[in-house]
Amino acid sequence: MCGIVGILGATPAVPRILESLARLEYRGYDSAGIATVEGGTLDRRRAPGKLSELRAVIDAHPLSGNNGIGHTRWATHGEPTEANAHPHMTGRVAIVHNGIIENFRPLKEELLTKGVTFEGETDTEVVARLLTAYLDEGMPPRAAFQKTLSRLVGAFALCVLIKGEDDLMFGAREGSPLVVGFGDGENYLGSDAMALASLSNKLIYLEEGDWAELTHTSVQVFDADGTPVDRLTTISQVAATMVDKGNHRHFMQKEIFEQPTVVAQALGRYLDPVAGKVRLPEMPFELATVPKVTLVACGTSYYAALVARYWIEKLARVPVEVDIASEFRYREPVYMDGGLAIFISQSGETADTLAALRHAKAAGQRVATIVNVMGSTMAREADVVLPIHAGAEIGVASTKAFTCQLSVLAALAVDLAAAKGQIDAAQEAAFVEELETAPKLMARVLAHDDAIQEIARAIAPARDVLFVGRGIHFPIAMEGALKLKEISYIHAEGYAAGELKHGPIALIDENVPVIGIAPNDELIDKTVSNLQEIMARQGKVILLSDNAESEAEGMFARLEMPSAGELVTPILYAIPVQLLAYYAAVEKGTDVDQPRNLAKSVTVE
Ligand code: AGP
Repeated sequence: MCGIVGILGATPAVPRILESLARLEYRGYDSAGIATVEGGTLDRRRAPGKLSELRAVIDAHPLSGNNGIGHTRWATHGEPTEANAHPHMTGRVAIVHNGIIENFRPLKEELLTKGVTFEGETDTEVVARLLTAYLDEGMPPRAAFQKTLSRLVGAFALCVLIKGEDDLMFGAREGSPLVVGFGDGENYLGSDAMALASLSNKLIYLEEGDWAELTHTSVQVFDADGTPVDRLTTISQVAATMVDKGNHRHFMQKEIFEQPTVVAQALGRYLDPVAGKVRLPEMPFELATVPKVTLVACGTSYYAALVARYWIEKLARVPVEVDIASEFRYREPVYMDGGLAIFISQSGETADTLAALRHAKAAGQRVATIVNVMGSTMAREADVVLPIHAGAEIGVASTKAFTCQLSVLAALAVDLAAAKGQIDAAQEAAFVEELETAPKLMARVLAHDDAIQEIARAIAPARDVLFVGRGIHFPIAMEGALKLKEISYIHAEGYAAGELKHGPIALIDENVPVIGIAPNDELIDKTVSNLQEIMARQGKVILLSDNAESEAEGMFARLEMPSAGELVTPILYAIPVQLLAYYAAVEKGTDVDQPRNLAKSVTVE
């Protein structure tokens, strides 16, 4: 997943493209580059590594021109070297691309047989060489671009400039998002509304197969057949002001500490504490008629789905199936007529989850999405959108979005239970009241920040760390392991506490910290027994619990947690595992907000 931007401007393009690329770094930061076209010259600057590397190159070798395209890369084909960095250029075109061209090898072979030579190994360079070949054959730009698109198979968002064409830019969308922005005597292309927020809020979201021809004063959108189409122009609500870290060291730290506030915001949109009722957005169907719920997501969002399964089945007595998006459609799932399929995604652009959403929609399921980005593709394609109101989440490791997802899923579980007649008005009011306590209790957990930092310092040297939990806290164990893995690069796994004795306990020795997630629920005794089995094998147990009587004797550390009901404890216990990962990463000096090999929004399958 990469970020692309294009400006047909009236003022120098480079500073504004750099600003847009800074907004797009969450989509990948393996390399970056800019190309400009003006007065018959096509020029570019590229650099491996982060945007700061490109800025340094441009400071040393300025790039002029009012028309430019830019790219920040998450490497798919080819290592993150300068040769593989976008924009890719030939003597006639410059191109930036987000996605994967699946048939680039046969196209490359075809061009090689025609004597075309290549600099790098990327699929994107093949597109640039193919377009150039059509232009060299004498095709006019629009026909050459359309012909090129017709040859491509795969997922792509493209942005193209052509030498000698100072008032022309092409864009295309197939499987990866692309937005057109309108300016005053200027026009723009970008991966999303965030990329264009400082340039324009008047946008067109291109649809699958669309391509667009822009000049400084016109925009024409075509469908896949080349037929001119009118697409809806929307006014984006994305703030132009760049989110900053405030007085925090990292975005992730800021977002962890924002959680009581944003969870209160999210709950405020879904709960009516006065009436003691859940208030979900209007749906084009009655929840009471839903015979089955399917939950599909990736990564952290998938762990939120796993927690929700416990809530929905226990409260609403509706069967729930949960699956990882990249597996879901390939196993040919069996849908129930009238079933509700819910796709959970912070970005609303994750390719695996979007493909699963389209699979369920094509099968006639009722489709809802729980997202943080309202202009996202999933938000525009689902029948029902349940926003999580977490605010922009910049850190690649998802934190506040996760607890906001859980808050919305808990509200949904209660509403579904009420709709199914499984709970009465008094019980609904009690659940609403319980959920309303979450922000205050979250703030109490955050007050343990220093103690958690001390524990994190102790586990930072570990090579392997286990997280264990039972019931609705088993997914929290997996989420804790993911957090630690993705930002501190320490190997970690989350297990059901009862599962350790079936093999994983062989991993335990004095070098293996084990985080035990053990709220004082009906499973606490069994969980503590499992932790004692670990201690009997010299495992270093760190107990997270509100059970003052739990056998903390001999444990490496213990963190006193507030007591809460089962709709709130998964939200609470997410915080210490987030902070453990954060402080372990800080201790190890890794790049907390932009960990290696990752990106915030994975828009490739
Ligand atoms: C979470 O910390 C990870 N960055 C990653 O697993 C993420 O949750 C996953 O890629 C799904 O992203 P989405 O919620 O935007 O779909």
